[in-house]
Amino acid sequence: MRIEPAPSVRGRFRLPGDKSISHRAALFGGLAQGPTRIRNYSSAADCASTLECLRALGVSLRHEGSEVTVEGRGPDSWKAPAHPLDAGNSGTTLRLLSGALAGRPFRTVLTGDASLRRRPVERVAAPLRAMGATALTTDGTPPLTIGGGRLHGIDIELPVASAQVKTAILLAGLQAEGTTTVREPAPSRDHTERMLPVFGVPVERDGLAATVHGGASLRGAEVTVPGDVSSAAFLVVAALILPDSEVHLEGVLLSPTRAAFVDVLRAMGGRVEMRLESTDPEPVGSIVATSSSLRGTTVDPAHVAALIDEVPALAVAASFAEGTFTVTGAKELRVKESDRIAAMAEGLGRLGGRVRELPDGMVIEGGAALRGAPVRSHGDHRVAMALAVAALAARGPTEIEGAECATVSFPEFYDFLARGAGRG
Ligand code: S3P
Repeated sequence: MRIEPAPSVRGRFRLPGDKSISHRAALFGGLAQGPTRIRNYSSAADCASTLECLRALGVSLRHEGSEVTVEGRGPDSWKAPAHPLDAGNSGTTLRLLSGALAGRPFRTVLTGDASLRRRPVERVAAPLRAMGATALTTDGTPPLTIGGGRLHGIDIELPVASAQVKTAILLAGLQAEGTTTVREPAPSRDHTERMLPVFGVPVERDGLAATVHGGASLRGAEVTVPGDVSSAAFLVVAALILPDSEVHLEGVLLSPTRAAFVDVLRAMGGRVEMRLESTDPEPVGSIVATSSSLRGTTVDPAHVAALIDEVPALAVAASFAEGTFTVTGAKELRVKESDRIAAMAEGLGRLGGRVRELPDGMVIEGGAALRGAPVRSHGDHRVAMALAVAALAARGPTEIEGAECATVSFPEFYDFLARGAGRG
């Protein structure tokens, strides 16, 4: 894909449904008794993978446009799938399903594409084994075989904050005997804790700990998914770094566990306004971002879990800022859909940016004039979109190899960008 520089980006956008919330709504609907209706279900390929896996387990559902209806008949209606379940590129599908499957009395093999088959799953397999499930990895990566057993609750401290691992353990905990508590070293996204009560299951929260009681059953619910805040990040950064720009994003998820990138952009001098419109079960509102003169900053490692998916977009903002930007405590980036530290250092470097890799982060010296060049997505949707935003503000055209993988989370991305740049 060829991206031409744009003089500015302007417009009003309503984003497709949040990916993390969509996965959970579909999966909880599949575990529930009774119908679940989901509005504004994410258009991401990842969320389609979750629906396909649920179908393969015998869950009956309809997907029409952005609406999904799940005819939940409870976890006992799930059947051993005829083939390994293919989660595609989606770590969330694979890890969340492992937790749900740990309590089922059959074996399931979970796998995915080449990127997913390189990603660590022992972090979810080990706690599930400790609860009594069979969980066999392939040298720590997928394919992962989950065999349901009689589970017992655990009280576990996670070494790394991870909403996927936390959710998998809590879902297994619902099918276990006794109580399950997950403790995290830092706050990760809390959509599971907020959504389980919507499906009739209480979750006790105490600081960085979440507790569920075994034997609770979910009942079908109505879920309206707010706009994806991680997708919003790319449009926000585009508006900040291009002159004469302003984007309005409506109906966006504003969860503090997801929108911490906005605080970082503000600390960089970015003009980003958030207007909270409702709070239950998730904070939702609008974001307005306006062209800004940015300066570097140092990201507090304690906030990294709440902005981990937005680091590629922040790295682009940093490249157009004056001074030094530093992020550390972000080693997880090395095991995402690609090694995002290496992929962003390479891509921004080819555009003339000055990025130094750290084992757990990066240091970016801003202020260099970026010029278009051939770059690579490494098959990673967020790398592709971040580099496309950088390309808009660079001099001369940029060719992005593997740009189409943006469909993994945001199929409408290039159309939105073209519309914002007055070319749509
Ligand atoms: C997600 C959790 C995060 C995030 C991913 C989605 C989720 O992963 O990076 O994109 O929906 O729970 P980890 O749990 O590995 O931190």
